[in-house]
Amino acid sequence: MAGVLARRKRPLLAIPLQISRFRALCENAGSRAGVSLIQGASRGLGLEFVRQLLERNSKDFVVATCRNPVKAENLAALKEQYPDRLQVLGLDVTDEDTIKEAANQVSKFHGPLELLVNTAGILHVENLVTPETSLSKLEKDALLLTFQINAAGPALVMKHMSPLLKSGGSREVPVIANLSARVGSIGDNKLGGWLSYRASKTALNQLTKTISIELARRRDPVACVLLHPGTVDTDLSKPYQRNVAKEKLFTKEFSVSKLLAIIDRVGMKDTGKFFAWDGQEIAW
Ligand SMILES: NC(=O)c1ccc[n+]([C@@H]2O[C@H](COP(=O)([O-])OP(=O)(O)OC[C@H]3O[C@@H](n4cnc5c(N)ncnc54)[C@H](OP(=O)(O)O)[C@@H]3O)[C@@H](O)[C@H]2O)c1
Repeated sequence: MAGVLARRKRPLLAIPLQISRFRALCENAGSRAGVSLIQGASRGLGLEFVRQLLERNSKDFVVATCRNPVKAENLAALKEQYPDRLQVLGLDVTDEDTIKEAANQVSKFHGPLELLVNTAGILHVENLVTPETSLSKLEKDALLLTFQINAAGPALVMKHMSPLLKSGGSREVPVIANLSARVGSIGDNKLGGWLSYRASKTALNQLTKTISIELARRRDPVACVLLHPGTVDTDLSKPYQRNVAKEKLFTKEFSVSKLLAIIDRVGMKDTGKFFAWDGQEIAW
C-alpha cells in the first residue's frame, strides 16, 4: 500500500513541475524573436537573404552588414520598408576592428543570434583581381586579397560572432552558413583555372569544417554548413555567364529560397558539411 501511494505521489508531484517547465520553455520560445545576421548584404545574394528573411516572417529581426552602409541604397530601401526589423551595420571583412565593433553592437542591442550567413566574396575586382586562366597569370597580391576576403574574412566573422549564437530561438540549433562555391571542391576539380578563387573557397571549406568541430563541442552547440548557391545572376558572375546554359543560370530569388530551405532543416547531424543549392552534399 505504501508502495502504491509512493508510486502515485511521484506523478502527481511531477506533472505540475513538468507543465510549469513546459510553459516556461514555450514562453521563452515565443518571447524571443529570432535574430539573423547577414554579412555582405549590400547586393547580390546577401541582399536577397535579407529581403527574404524579412518578408517571410513578420516577427524576426535582421542585422545586415556591409562595407559602406551610406552607399548601400538597396538596404536603405529595405530599411524604409521594415524600419523596426532591420538594422544595417558597417563591417569590412578585411578589417577585424569593424567585425569586433559589429559584434559589440549586436550583443548590446539584439542579444543572441540564431543565424549567421557569411556571403561576402570576390571573384574579380576591377584593376586588382582577374580570375586566372593559366598559371602564368597568377599574381601574389590578387591571390592574397582573394584569400583575405573569401577565407580569412568569414573565419574572423565566425570568431567574433559565434559567442553570440545561442539556442532558444525558433531553429533546432543556431546555424552558421558560409557561402562557398562548388569550384572550391578538390575532388570535383576537372577544369582547372581560377586559381585564387578556387583555392580561397577550399580554404574557407577547411576553416569552416575545423571551426564546426570546435563549435559542436560547446555546451550550447552551433551547426556550421557550407553552401554552393549554383551559378547565380549577380555582379560576381556577370562577366562569366556567356557559357552558362540559360536553365543553369539561377535568379537570386530562386537560389536564396533554396539555400534558406536547407538552412531551415539544418541540425547538428549536418554540421561541417558542404551542400549545393539542391541539398546534395558536395565532395571535398
Ligand atoms: N553568383 C554566383 O554565381 C556564385 C556562385 C558560387 C558562389 N558564390 C558565392 O556567393 C557569395 C555571394 O556572391 P554574390 O554573387 O552575391 O556576389 P556579389 O553580387 O558580387 O556581392 C558580393 C558582396 O560581397 C561584398 N564584399 C566584397 N568585399 C567585401 C569586404 N571586404 N567586406 C565586406 N563585404 C565585402 C560586396 O560588398 P560591396 O557592395 O561593398 O562591394 C557585396 O555585397 C560569394 O561568397 C560568392 O563567392 C556566388
